[in-house]
Amino acid sequence: MRERYGPWALVAGASEGTGAAFARQLAAEGFDLILIARREGPLEELAGELTHDHGVACVTGSIDLALPDAADRMAELAGGREVGLLILNAGADSVGARFLDGGLENWEALVTRNVMTVMRACHRFAQPMRERGRGGIMLVGSGACYGGLPGIAAYSGSKAFDLVFGEALWVELKPYGVDVLNLILGRTDTPAHRELMERMGRPFPTDCAAPEDVAAMGLARMAQGPVCNWGLADEDVGYAGTSAAMRRARIVQIAAAMAGQEA
Ligand SMILES: NC(=O)c1ccc[n+]([C@@H]2O[C@H](COP(=O)([O-])OP(=O)(O)OC[C@H]3O[C@@H](n4cnc5c(N)ncnc54)[C@H](OP(=O)(O)O)[C@@H]3O)[C@@H](O)[C@H]2O)c1
Repeated sequence: MRERYGPWALVAGASEGTGAAFARQLAAEGFDLILIARREGPLEELAGELTHDHGVACVTGSIDLALPDAADRMAELAGGREVGLLILNAGADSVGARFLDGGLENWEALVTRNVMTVMRACHRFAQPMRERGRGGIMLVGSGACYGGLPGIAAYSGSKAFDLVFGEALWVELKPYGVDVLNLILGRTDTPAHRELMERMGRPFPTDCAAPEDVAAMGLARMAQGPVCNWGLADEDVGYAGTSAAMRRARIVQIAAAMAGQEA
């Protein structure tokens, strides 16, 4: 893992839940880590734990990914470190309202974080990966990407962008040894999800995945992009409408046809 995607991994949205689970599992593999979220306290605590338990180096940065300069700040924080793995994890909807019932400023912040910052960070961090001929990018997505539903208009739209964007990056970067994976999650037992359910006055679902399991699957599947749907085998359609295998086959087929036309 570290040989292919190391020595540094950057996790955006690392202070809790799936992000912290990725960081812990990567530290156990010997990765040095760049940990980003808004709250510095939990990040520093996690960094201390990882350095103590695994002897790895950690750099933390309080960056609001919903601000327009977030990707610049991520790159500044990374400095000259060789980031071989970029995990863009932060991305949940913390509002939980129908489109017209939520302030536009909330939706703009969500879209900036989930779309613009994701795109800008990929542009920044994938360039040196392509030059080195190795690396990995994981976009943590949601089953909401497969279609609009009431109460998640901006969220599902942003996740649909990430899905299609990540698929295109997968086929573009594959020849350069850079893996891209859209890790599509279902309900997961994270603090953010618990807070949202509580705020909405809804009971917490009993069928949630554990962040550690989700992170382990994502890391294990890093090289088998472009899509991995939590809870579904590659050939299963399930909630996705099209299976991961069908999406992959379509991309490969069209990319080959396009290459034929270009030749
Ligand atoms: N939990 C679920 O049931 C579920 C279901 C489907 C998909 N997912 C996906 O899984 C990923 C993780 O979800 P999650 O439930 O753990 O909630 P989340 O709010 O996306 O992620 C939590 C982490 O992201 C950080 N974060 C959130 N907004 C940020 C911002 N604007 N700038 C910087 N850091 C930010 C949080 O730290 P700070 O608060 O300190 O910033 C925390 O470390 C998301 O992409 C989400 O869409 C989750």
